[in-house]
Amino acid sequence: MPTHVSPPQRRKFLFTMLGGLGVLIGAASAWPIFRFLSPVASGSGNDQVVVPRSEVAAGKAHFFDYRGKPAVLLQPTPGNFVALSAVCTHLGCVVAWQDQAGEFLCPCHGGRFSADGQVLGGPPPKPLETLVVELDGDQLKVG
Ligand code: FES
Repeated sequence: MPTHVSPPQRRKFLFTMLGGLGVLIGAASAWPIFRFLSPVASGSGNDQVVVPRSEVAAGKAHFFDYRGKPAVLLQPTPGNFVALSAVCTHLGCVVAWQDQAGEFLCPCHGGRFSADGQVLGGPPPKPLETLVVELDGDQLKVG
């Protein structure tokens, strides 16, 4: 068994190790960029979400996760409930509810949506996705 490593073998070993280290550093650096650019997962959460009616006050928004994506419940007028995806149809940012204005505002590029998800302004190409919501006693069932 040889105990002596010749310089060319040592050099080859070092280059191989440096190459492997470079690949690891490159992959670790690229992972956050890949996660940022990849589309939102298609979701695999529960098919139906139950929210107590008391958590959706008139004129207020209640955000929750629906199938792994942000969604929102509203009560625009007393007794009238609306469930929408909270994902902006432009580039996928999560919209915020503006109590005073009574509309959604997308923080990324200023897209605006009405309480029923229709586009009011900005770059979004289509309305927010509407979700099925049903009032069952004191519970709101989405999906
Ligand atoms: S992502 Fe909402 S306006 Fe661009």
